[in-house]
Amino acid sequence: MYYKLPTELHCEKNCIINHADDICAHGKSAYIITGKHSSKENGSLNDVISVLESGHISYKIFDGVCENPSIENVMEAVKTASESTDFVIGIGGGSPLDASKAVSLMLANPDKNEDLLYQKCDAGYLPVVTIPTTCGTGSEITPYSILTIHSLCTKSSLPHKIYPSLALIDPMYLDSAPDTVLKNTAIDALGHLIESYINKNASGISKMFCNHALSMWKAVPYILKNNIRSYESYELLMMISAYAGMAISHTGTSLPHKLSYPLTYERNVPHGKAVGTFLCAYMRHADIYSCNHILSLCGFATVQILADTIHELCGHIEVPLSLAKKSVKDISSDPKKLGNCPYPVNEEILWDIYNESVKII
Ligand SMILES: [Fe+2]
Repeated sequence: MYYKLPTELHCEKNCIINHADDICAHGKSAYIITGKHSSKENGSLNDVISVLESGHISYKIFDGVCENPSIENVMEAVKTASESTDFVIGIGGGSPLDASKAVSLMLANPDKNEDLLYQKCDAGYLPVVTIPTTCGTGSEITPYSILTIHSLCTKSSLPHKIYPSLALIDPMYLDSAPDTVLKNTAIDALGHLIESYINKNASGISKMFCNHALSMWKAVPYILKNNIRSYESYELLMMISAYAGMAISHTGTSLPHKLSYPLTYERNVPHGKAVGTFLCAYMRHADIYSCNHILSLCGFATVQILADTIHELCGHIEVPLSLAKKSVKDISSDPKKLGNCPYPVNEEILWDIYNESVKII
């Protein structure tokens, strides 16, 4: 059994302001990593700036993180950082939070070039504060940073485990998030829970997080279909995402995530939607006990009803045959990509999962 969760996490209204001292205790110079728009619209960036200014902490902002950030995007942020940076603050969805971890790694190792990102070695990193403004990634608590590698036409997780030191969740930041973002990210969180439960590395601890959050997920279809916009619904969505992050911190994700990355890279399919499309086929190939346990916890009578719900929330996906062939070949030929799946997988099973999950054109 393995357990490690070193991140201090708080989830409450006005979370940033309430924990101003915890943020300022990280050092005298902060580097804020965020995207172009949402952190300005939901107030999170202003809250952070106000806390830093009150605490007389100097700061610099990089607001150029792209969706599914690439190595080049991270290095652009690294180049514009102040030399005196003591800590990094990531604000936003999975993209800025993942980028902030990669930036913290590079800033702590100024004599290294971008090769360090994917080098398997012991490398330090600057402290990272994470402030999520979507409800799926769990990146605020996980040690993972997933970047786009253009040379491989896909996304891949850094081999370094970069645990944030402090995660601050204010559920009200979801209030300005578009419906599609809530839907796609809530499905991503469901993916983390299902892939963590049906996982070779699953343990009593990881299943504890899954069990609790899957039972919370029971309320999610009603919230999303009826567009229930309340503090309580935002808090539920944010905490499911955080619990799912705690689960995958111990197990990693599995096949649906691996299958999703080429769809996001090549077809620009949002991450949660791409993951969600493969979830039910992944479950159907798992042991019947795990499958039924997951269904009963999140309130679905059959896998098909869950599949219909995911499609209703996120829509269907069409994939060109050439891309399907390339994905199946890439994944089946790389044992690392199949590593967390608890059942044997070969090309035939991957094709079964593919054919059941998407329309091949
Ligand atoms: Fe994910």
